[in-house]
Amino acid sequence: KKRVGIFVSGGGSNMRALVEDMGRDHPAEPVVVVSNNPHARGITWAQDAGLATVVVDHYPFGRDRAAFEAAITEALAPHDLDLICLAGFMRVLTAGFVTHWRDRMLNIHPSLLPKYRGLHTHARALEAGDTEHGCTVHLVTPELDDGPVLGQVRVPIHAGDTPDDLAARVLVQEHRLYPAVLRRYAAGDRAPLML
Ligand code: GAR
Repeated sequence: KKRVGIFVSGGGSNMRALVEDMGRDHPAEPVVVVSNNPHARGITWAQDAGLATVVVDHYPFGRDRAAFEAAITEALAPHDLDLICLAGFMRVLTAGFVTHWRDRMLNIHPSLLPKYRGLHTHARALEAGDTEHGCTVHLVTPELDDGPVLGQVRVPIHAGDTPDDLAARVLVQEHRLYPAVLRRYAAGDRAPLML
């Protein structure tokens, strides 16, 4: 089985969806959950689920992203990972780290990439007057929220939606999309999945 590390910064609902799916006849298995945030609720959940966890608080590293990543790399070494899934991991990774994991690191982003890279995607889609929005799973490349698309789901925008309404509607679809993409990718299928 492919050995998967999942990186989270917050609630970790996508992590939970991935871990739960890997519990059902799957080409991959979750081996470690990593967070830059010592208070991430996702870490507590992972511990309760019996998964190994690694917490590397980014704060003491200041702007030294490479040193922060070196600490993560060292902690990951014994886990011998095949794949990394970024799941609400809110730190930008350096080109060095990304290149090392090229074709082995996936990310989920809450927009229909290439639209709305970066933050506040739901508010930006509403401000633009879009009628649809969604989420994308892609391979991570050094450019932020770029890289080959592995899957996408479109979600309608309704009149009167707030950013929170839209985020919630998209998140439900993230929980379908990410497990479905990981399942295919871990089995060697890179063709985009459009749900
Ligand atoms: C998700 O909506 C994910 O797409 C987004 O953060 C949320 C994390 O929720 N990721 C990004 O914005 C990445 N820049 P979760 O912790 O419950 O999975």
